[in-house]
Amino acid sequence: MIKKGIILAGGKGTRMSPLTKAVNKQLLPIYDKPLIYYPLSILMLAKIRNILIIVNKGELHQYKKLLGDGKNLGIKISYKEQEKPNGLPEAFILGENFIGKDNVALILGDNFFYGQSLTKILLKCVKLKKGSKIILHKVINPEKFGVAKIKNNKILTIKEKPKKHISDLAITGLYFFDNKVISLSKKLKPSKRNELEITDLLKKYLQYKQLKAEYIGRGGAWLDTGSIDDFYKTSNFVSAIENRQGFKIACIEEISLQNKWIKRKEIINSIKFYGNCEYSKYLKKLITK
Ligand code: G1P
Repeated sequence: MIKKGIILAGGKGTRMSPLTKAVNKQLLPIYDKPLIYYPLSILMLAKIRNILIIVNKGELHQYKKLLGDGKNLGIKISYKEQEKPNGLPEAFILGENFIGKDNVALILGDNFFYGQSLTKILLKCVKLKKGSKIILHKVINPEKFGVAKIKNNKILTIKEKPKKHISDLAITGLYFFDNKVISLSKKLKPSKRNELEITDLLKKYLQYKQLKAEYIGRGGAWLDTGSIDDFYKTSNFVSAIENRQGFKIACIEEISLQNKWIKRKEIINSIKFYGNCEYSKYLKKLITK
């Protein structure tokens, strides 16, 4: 069982400047909560309770102010500052002590997932013992992502942002790895854009025939929050669902309560912490049903 997860919440968010000049992208709102709540909720739905958040140097206090040590959510959150973003696999080098001898999940701080079958897929993925697992989703703009070419249910090739079309299955920013990931990441060489590439890491697993895929089908959503436009589209998506159904997406306290990691007392603490707002009203409803 994978019990540890890393959220990579660094990066300069250049494409969203000036919004990201003083505030990290992952702290900006997707509708009614900070973006980081969404990837955090995904790890929590996967029943992962030990979480490392990697943040930019100098931005640690903002995250701590929001999420603390995770105690009130019944989880353990630790943090690591990153000097400068050198590519996704650096998470496993910076997170070496955190990972120890265990297997680990990685989620990118700006990735948004939604769908009924998601929890089932997540619970399957955390069972990983050996190798690596990626989550694929069909997109109309595969040139913007890492992609995987599949034949007879097997991964044939992996390519980062292919100029020529090879597949429309994007590799989403949620990955599951065995402990080899640390040593393999250390051996990677920077790419042309001078970063360690997650796709190079996945290629190593593919060489060992240890790379498997799960799919988010058409009933699920994986949305990009890379540009300002995408940010608003994702916000609109969340707003449409939440206001129609009355359920909140990525209410981290609700997930903890459902997982039986916390009780009424912690919810009351959270209401006090957030103050008088819609989010608190929602939390109140959870304990007065
Ligand atoms: C990164 C990965 C890419 C993946 C994407 C998912 O891209 O390199 O393989 O498909 O995240 O969000 P980047 O955000 O660095 O352009």
